Amino acid sequence: MEKKEQTVTMEKIVNLSKRRGFVFQNSEIYGGLASSYEYGPLGVELKNNLKKLWWKMFVQERADMVGIDGNILQSPKVWEASGHVEKFKDPLVECKKCHKRFRSDKLADPSKCPECSGPFTEEKYFSGMFKTVIGPVEKEGLVTYLRPETAQAIFVDYKNVLSSTNKRIPFGIAQIGKAFRNEITTGNFIFRTYEFEQMEIEYFISPNENWKKIFDNFLNQMHKFGELVGLDKEKYFDHNIPDGERAHYSKKTIDIEYDWLFGRDELWGLAYRTDFDLINHQKASGIDMAYTDPMNNEKYVPHVIEPSMGLDRTVLAVLSECYDEEEVGGELRTVLRLPKAIAPIKIAILPLSKKEELISKSKEVYDLLKSDYMCEYDETQSIGKRYRRQDEIGTPYCVTVDFDSLEDKKVTVRDRDTMKQDRVEISKLAEYFVEKL
Ligand code: GAP
Repeated sequence: MEKKEQTVTMEKIVNLSKRRGFVFQNSEIYGGLASSYEYGPLGVELKNNLKKLWWKMFVQERADMVGIDGNILQSPKVWEASGHVEKFKDPLVECKKCHKRFRSDKLADPSKCPECSGPFTEEKYFSGMFKTVIGPVEKEGLVTYLRPETAQAIFVDYKNVLSSTNKRIPFGIAQIGKAFRNEITTGNFIFRTYEFEQMEIEYFISPNENWKKIFDNFLNQMHKFGELVGLDKEKYFDHNIPDGERAHYSKKTIDIEYDWLFGRDELWGLAYRTDFDLINHQKASGIDMAYTDPMNNEKYVPHVIEPSMGLDRTVLAVLSECYDEEEVGGELRTVLRLPKAIAPIKIAILPLSKKEELISKSKEVYDLLKSDYMCEYDETQSIGKRYRRQDEIGTPYCVTVDFDSLEDKKVTVRDRDTMKQDRVEISKLAEYFVEKL
């Protein structure tokens, strides 16, 4: 088995995603909506597995963390108080010659168009939030926004969480959900889109707490999560965002940048939001956001550390990292070497042929395993083609039922990475996979 030079490209990732059902273009039959994608049958499994792992690591395994599921639509007062209405804006310029639009703060040379060297229009500020109207009559309706970050529901609900749980500061509230941004520059597949999913934590601490220590702990945890989902730690970098470039709420931000197939850019972010949000909500709502420490009666408005991780960017990084090609017996084998925990399908059950006895035995095996693992039963095409499909979608194990299986009650289990095959008794399969998976 000869290992080929790594030849992964963005084009191959996009093709595989569509061909095998990870990611589809949104509204494709109408020519597609720009920078909008949907997740297919395998994409949704991969995303769910990533979310499950994240929730396990950051919520389930920590006594100081709880979750919420907040709304996409909030009162517009939330966005006024949070500073998003006033400050969540990007500087836009348009080329007078080719009419392409750019974010001027992201241009290496903001004096001329990078595409045609034409001159730019004057810089204008452009809101990154999608406006919407609640109510049947547009002119009389309540104007609000689709949330550009999941975080605000956590700030607004923080007192409810405190009073309804046994949590005491320091503690964190986690949330996974959709966010929406009217981005000026999009592109690079699911890297920057209008609609995306965030996995966020707001971690509440005393203003006297050593925030740097907690910040660093989260940074370590984020790195660990990257390794857990199969990312190469040599490919991500902590970028300390300098003064003047951070979001309006942040006193310190580290972007974890990643070496994407198109260059280095942000994967996830970690920010020290201080008491910015809670103080602003306190001022705007008139509700006291202070916390009283039951140990010493000290009263303060908590400060917040915020790890924020984009799920779609995690999917893209994982797909790019796990994509592999190798030559086997003169043929090219594409393998998605996903960590088993996030593989969409854990076990494929494949009858060697479409003979009735093999089909019914295979369905028995499928029924035996399906309640514990996401399994796929497949009787279409040749066995070679079915193996190739499972390799390409990252299925760690294929179970083949052949004519001998009818006699010896054993099946062949093929390992995705080594392609080694084990002959396993059907009655011992459940036990075998407990160990393997
Ligand atoms: N609450 C903090 C916050 O939203 P952010 O750095 O603006 O911080 C957090 O966003 C993460 O969300 C990013 O690190 C990235 O993973 C993801 N993200 C942001 N904008 C995105 C977009 N347009 N498309 C896909 N993911 C995006």
